[in-house]
Amino acid sequence: MEKHASESYYIVDEGLLVVSAGGRNGGPPEGEISRRRVEADIAADGPPFRFSRMGPRGIGRQLGDPNRKRLGNAMAAGGGGTGQIPAGFTYLGQFIDHDLTFDKTEVMLGANISPAALLQGRSPELDLDSLYGAGPLDPESAKFYEADGIHLKKGKTKAIDPFPALEGHDHPRGAGTTQAQKRKAIIPDKRNDENLAVAQTHLAFVRFHNRVVDTLPASVPASQRFDTARELVTKHYQWMIRTDYLPRICAAGVVNNVFNQGRKAFEVGATPTDVPTMPVEFSVAAFRLGHSMIREAYNWNKAFDNGSGFLSYLFEFSATGGNLGGETRLLSNWVADFRRLYNFGEANKPNLVVPAAKFNKAMRIDTRLVDPLKNLPPGTFGGPTVPFNDPRANLAFRNLTRAKMVKLATGQQMANFLKSKGVNLTKLTKTQIRDGNNGAKLDRLTAAQRAALLKDTPLWFYILREAELNGGKLKGVGARIVAETIHRAMEGSEHSIVRDTAFKPSFGPNNNTFRMVDLLLFAFEGKKSLLAPLG
Ligand code: HEM
Repeated sequence: MEKHASESYYIVDEGLLVVSAGGRNGGPPEGEISRRRVEADIAADGPPFRFSRMGPRGIGRQLGDPNRKRLGNAMAAGGGGTGQIPAGFTYLGQFIDHDLTFDKTEVMLGANISPAALLQGRSPELDLDSLYGAGPLDPESAKFYEADGIHLKKGKTKAIDPFPALEGHDHPRGAGTTQAQKRKAIIPDKRNDENLAVAQTHLAFVRFHNRVVDTLPASVPASQRFDTARELVTKHYQWMIRTDYLPRICAAGVVNNVFNQGRKAFEVGATPTDVPTMPVEFSVAAFRLGHSMIREAYNWNKAFDNGSGFLSYLFEFSATGGNLGGETRLLSNWVADFRRLYNFGEANKPNLVVPAAKFNKAMRIDTRLVDPLKNLPPGTFGGPTVPFNDPRANLAFRNLTRAKMVKLATGQQMANFLKSKGVNLTKLTKTQIRDGNNGAKLDRLTAAQRAALLKDTPLWFYILREAELNGGKLKGVGARIVAETIHRAMEGSEHSIVRDTAFKPSFGPNNNTFRMVDLLLFAFEGKKSLLAPLG
């Protein structure tokens, strides 16, 4: 069975907190059966993914079930508007999350895993192991690579009139005999086939790696070409996260402060090369910010234009969230038009800029989620098919409930905690938490429920309110948790721009600039025919 880190939380210094609730991989209901099963796994196989706690525990501060249901409904009621961030960054964020939380030991050959590899594989790092698996030399991961053991495999789409089959625009698929097996993507982390946008993002990174390999000097010997390319790819990826992704979602001042002055709250003074842990405050609350950026519909490409690229289709035309529309390969008319997801004007490429009406901006980061996230398809959370409007399929309710399960600190607790560590931030007032700024409306909560929420605000909601009061960028508590966690994950990665301070990017316009648009330009050879093959 594919396990998912977030189904059972092993928290360093606390041990196992079983929180399986029919989650993403359809785990059994919460309770003793699942606890026994996870404990048996741990006995056989060592502790699972290593979570930690940055702040205090939120004991006695969790909202009751009816309150979380109402709040979940209020948050996923839709409405609201777009922000300033190009929509591609939503799914880049999801890709980054999967990289951070990927348990590499899932794709390693069991008997060969040393304790050190287990520890490293189950720790958050920004090293693209969701792309590379355990590397071409690992027998279980070799299938992700071409026969040369250096290039990553890509797949071919299926022709649909008038579009031909397109080489290299789908995940590689097709092992096995049943339809379901044939459509399964041959990639380390199946979550990167959970929706079409994250799948196409993954493919862009496959291409990026392959292009880096192809442009290595001939003097790099065959035996070192993979490792050399991987190091370059990983460091460029981290540079892009540090200088492009993070300042778009977080107040730039906080990001700069953390990267220039160091961390104040999380694993302060850790030996840089020690393997990091993943704070539950990041995983269960702060980095779920991306859920609020998801749009209900996209001007996806020439074939699914003018808002007809519905989110439900992005699920359907993937093989984890859907069934590829019943096919075993992606149909060519679904290939992404990256010009509509990222603004190539930033890289001074006017020929790759689409008219504003065709461009997709992410929804503003705020306390609102688009309505389809109230009824997630079962494949996205691995759960059973549930009746319409069942809270188990409501992503907001799931996030709030997950927080309760791990006894997550509230927004107020985290604000106090961070201030006690010398972080300069202003706590939200009760009025700000209640009223926000054109975000989720709390009028369906009873007076008592509202009072409980204003006193002990779930961290995820608090962070999103902070962002919505800050023009759609994380601030205060949220920005600090995200920037410190990502900084530590980069610091502890095998290849690290935090440790290697001399590194400078070489695949962008100059030795200081490497943004997501530069990564895409390099990966797709700057060609419109590859960035937007449907035209
Ligand atoms: C259509 C897109 C997405 C869907 C359907 C989706 C769905 C989910 C679901 C079902 C969970 C588990 C909920 C639970 O039971 O606890 C989850 C977890 C999570 N999501 Fe998303 N998500 C999406 C996009 C994103 C984005 C854009 C980000 C961040 C930028 C993000 C960040 C996270 C994080 C940090 C977790 C917890 C860690 C993990 O399990 O990987 N997600 N998401």
